Formats: sequence, structure tokens, C-alpha cells
Amino acid sequence: MKVFCILSDERAWRSKSPAMHSAVLRSHGIDGVYVPFRVEPDRVEQAVKGLAALNIAGANVTVPYKEAVMPHLDAISEEASAIAAVNTITNVDGRLTGHNTDAAGFIDAILARKPQFTAGSAVIFGAGGAAKAVGYAVKTWGAEKVAIAARDVSKARSIADNIGAEAIDLQTAIQEWTEPKLVVNCTSVSTDAESPALAASIEAWAPAGCEMVVDINYGRQDTFWERLARRAGAEFMDGLPMLAHQAARSFRLWTGIDATASEFVQALEELR
Ligand code: ATR
Repeated sequence: MKVFCILSDERAWRSKSPAMHSAVLRSHGIDGVYVPFRVEPDRVEQAVKGLAALNIAGANVTVPYKEAVMPHLDAISEEASAIAAVNTITNVDGRLTGHNTDAAGFIDAILARKPQFTAGSAVIFGAGGAAKAVGYAVKTWGAEKVAIAARDVSKARSIADNIGAEAIDLQTAIQEWTEPKLVVNCTSVSTDAESPALAASIEAWAPAGCEMVVDINYGRQDTFWERLARRAGAEFMDGLPMLAHQAARSFRLWTGIDATASEFVQALEELR
């Protein structure tokens, strides 16, 4: 029996990863379970050490501990180290390594939808953990011009400086970034009710030549990001494919099995 888990705060109980991974483990005939663990902020080190002590076969880490776990691991992959965030931990004979599958999962999801797409220029809204991974992904994918747009420009700058992007405020984004090929929402808000202010700003924006709008959130109706895509004549994608693709990559790291992202999408759809 293999045990997998996700480490988070009380949000661990709401994560879709336990049900999603458990379904794919079952369908591949692996005798395993995937469980959520709620960890107190002052017990992150004990929780990480516990993964080795308890022979946990693999773990995900999500908000708010993607950075906090890093000092307690035995090794960090090059990608996770460049992004400065870990979302996946492997356990090989008690040696714990931190990986980041969010960035590659984001690119996988875009290419699965639009195989010929190249990023060119991109505006990323938000300056949290998701923006860090997406900014790194877009930049290493070869986008020439990338901006991190946030209400707190100093937060945007700490991400932008790390990857060679620009840091701008929200107004500058909509006034000056008139031709981004890719727009990504990495803020936690997508609907008018969640943020009337951001909704109004995005509503006033009509970028030309935009080919794709990605909202990393999912499960929300009538989002201003989807309306932006419609106005711009761009393709729209929510966060579900990215969730599935990062999960497929984590699963591969733990088990060596090439489960497809559509297996994870199907598992997610069965949860609805
Ligand atoms: P995650 O790890 O999922 O990226 P996060 O670190 O909480 O989550 O980041 C969420 C981002 O959404 C933050 O940059 C946040 O802005 P602040 O850093 O200023 O808090 C951004 N965000 C949340 N609500 C927002 C709103 N109404 N308008 C603009 N940005 C918002």
C-alpha cells in the first residue's frame, strides 16, 4: 500500500487532489491512497520530516506552504529552485526532493489546446505563487516581452526581476499593454462579485492581437476573463487543464506511470 498526500492549511480539506489522484491510482491498479493533511504553520518542518519517517510515497504542497517546505527538503530540482516554489515532493529511500510541476503543467495545458502557440508577449495579472510559476514558465518558453501586473507593484517587481520581466500596475497594463498575445489571470479573482474594481478595469481593456486568455481559477460562471477573451476574439481556457497537467506530471514523478492529463480531467469531472 502506497500513501500519497497533500500538505496545506485548512484548504487541504477543499483540495480536489485527493479524489483526483485516488481515482487515477485506482484506474492504474495501484494499491494506494491519497489523503489531505492540514498542517499548522509552525509545524511545516515536522510535517516534511514526517513524510520520510512515515514512508509517504509522494506529496503535493499547496498554498500557503510552497515556499515554507523548501528549507526542510534534501534536494530541490533546478526548476523548483528557479521558481522558488515546490508543489511536488518525491521520496526515494527516505530522500526527499522538491519539484515544481505547475510551470510545465501550464505550458502543457496551452499546447494541448493550441499546439502551434508561442507566447510572444504576455501579461500576467497577480503577484502571488501562481504568478511566480506562470511567469517563469512563459519566460523560459521564450516569450520576449512579459509583464507582471499587480495592484502592489513592489510584489510584482520581486517576481519580475527574478525572471527578466517588467513589473507594472493594473492601470499601466490596460493602458499601455495594448497587444499582448497571451493574457493570464493569476489573481484569485475572476467574477464581478469577487472584485468589482478589477472587473471594471478589465472590462475597459480591448487588447488587439490577443490569441489566448487563461484564467487559472476554475468552476466560476460569467467571469470577466472569459468576457475579455470573447471581446478580443481570443481562445479562453480556465485553470482546470493546468490542474490536470500538473497532476499528471506529479503522478509520473511518483509512480513512473505516464497517466494522461485527460485521465485527471475525467476524474475531476466525475467529482462535479
Ligand atoms: P496564489 O498562490 O494562488 O497565486 P496568492 O499568493 O494569494 O495565491 O496570490 C493571489 C494574487 O491575487 C495576489 O497577487 C493578490 O494581490 P495582493 O498581493 O495585492 O494581495 C491578487 N489579488 C487578489 N485579489 C485581487 C483583486 N481584487 N485585485 C487585484 N489583485 C488581486
